[in-house]
Amino acid sequence: MYQIHETQLSARAQAIVPSLIREASRYCTELGALNLAQGLPDFAAPEFLKEAARTAITQDHNQYCDTWGLRPLREALAAKLQRDNKMVVDPETQITVCCGATEGLNLALMALLDPGDEVLVFSPFYENYRPNLAMVGAVARHITLTGPGWEVTEEVLERGFAGKPPKVVIVNNPANPTGKVWTRPELELLARYCLHHGTYAITDEIYEYIVYDGAEHISLASLPGMAERTITVNGFSKTFCVTGWRLGYTVAPAALSDGIRRLHDFLTICAPAPLQWAALAAVESGEDYYHGLRSLYQAKRTLLFEALEKAGFAPILPRGAYYIWTDGRVLGAANACEAAHKLATLAGIAAVPGDCFLPINQPNQNLRFCFAKRDETLQAAVHRLESLVALSS
Ligand SMILES: Cc1ncc(COP(=O)(O)O)c(C=O)c1O
Repeated sequence: MYQIHETQLSARAQAIVPSLIREASRYCTELGALNLAQGLPDFAAPEFLKEAARTAITQDHNQYCDTWGLRPLREALAAKLQRDNKMVVDPETQITVCCGATEGLNLALMALLDPGDEVLVFSPFYENYRPNLAMVGAVARHITLTGPGWEVTEEVLERGFAGKPPKVVIVNNPANPTGKVWTRPELELLARYCLHHGTYAITDEIYEYIVYDGAEHISLASLPGMAERTITVNGFSKTFCVTGWRLGYTVAPAALSDGIRRLHDFLTICAPAPLQWAALAAVESGEDYYHGLRSLYQAKRTLLFEALEKAGFAPILPRGAYYIWTDGRVLGAANACEAAHKLATLAGIAAVPGDCFLPINQPNQNLRFCFAKRDETLQAAVHRLESLVALSS
């Protein structure tokens, strides 16, 4: 066996720091802690979807399929986009089915960016954006938003677009880890800056159906002038509790789609064929399904939020997605990584340290908790948080 020396790795590979989220899951198993770190449900995927996947495999949809995505799936997605996102798109030229929103984001970045190009990223941001930008050699321009509102104002965008405007802005709506749901005035303001400066937008809308307290999810591409300069990235992982299926899609104007498709073809050829047939059943779900999903997560949010508040973590109530952003100073650790470790060893709960959602070396004590868990898991976490309070008082 030969060994690869660090020095033989490309600069691109060396720039990637291993995921703190997946590391938290690893030590969680070692310590037997409850995993509130990684953003995946610990409950079953919907039966109708599993049945549809079994049927597709039995019917032998087991070979490569249309590289751009099954035609009936793209057509169903176009109908959904028109109904729910107010986006009118041609499934033949504008929708590309790929391996998760993760592939979709990478395709979008590769299609638009060259080394050295600048990308506006609102902080805190989803962990993947940093390595994804490193992979294309792009440079992040971080603009920090402030909780609990995480508002995007004219002053924020003046800073973001100062000097040479960024080539791309990434919008995660609803956002991980903050739960921010962009309001229409915020999106309109951003659209104004993008149109004025010729900046493209890449939107990550993977949590579009998971919003609370009547918050409305709006797609940036539905705003006047933005369809021409937005790549919308989405997927099935979160809405349908199938993070392991690796199914996502991009929506872009035909000229950008062309670039995305060239890249996708030679990266993965196509997304898993039988699961695309099953996804067709998912896209055809009615409002009842989405309503059920929102109610399910709203109750889980309340359960964990109240326990975190009582335990002194100063949680910020998310308006969307399924994470709670907190301040871990109550644990009395030196930094967020130590706080996460202390929480895992003292209380048997794994959370993700803030470092991977913030610009490099930004001192912080933040912890992100995921509540996409069975009620038993969350109840156990509530008890452990109560014991933690008892221990420190
Ligand atoms: C904001 C955001 N985008 C994308 C993803 C990954 O989506 P997928 O499973 O479709 O690759 C995640 C997963 O946690 C996420 O939180």
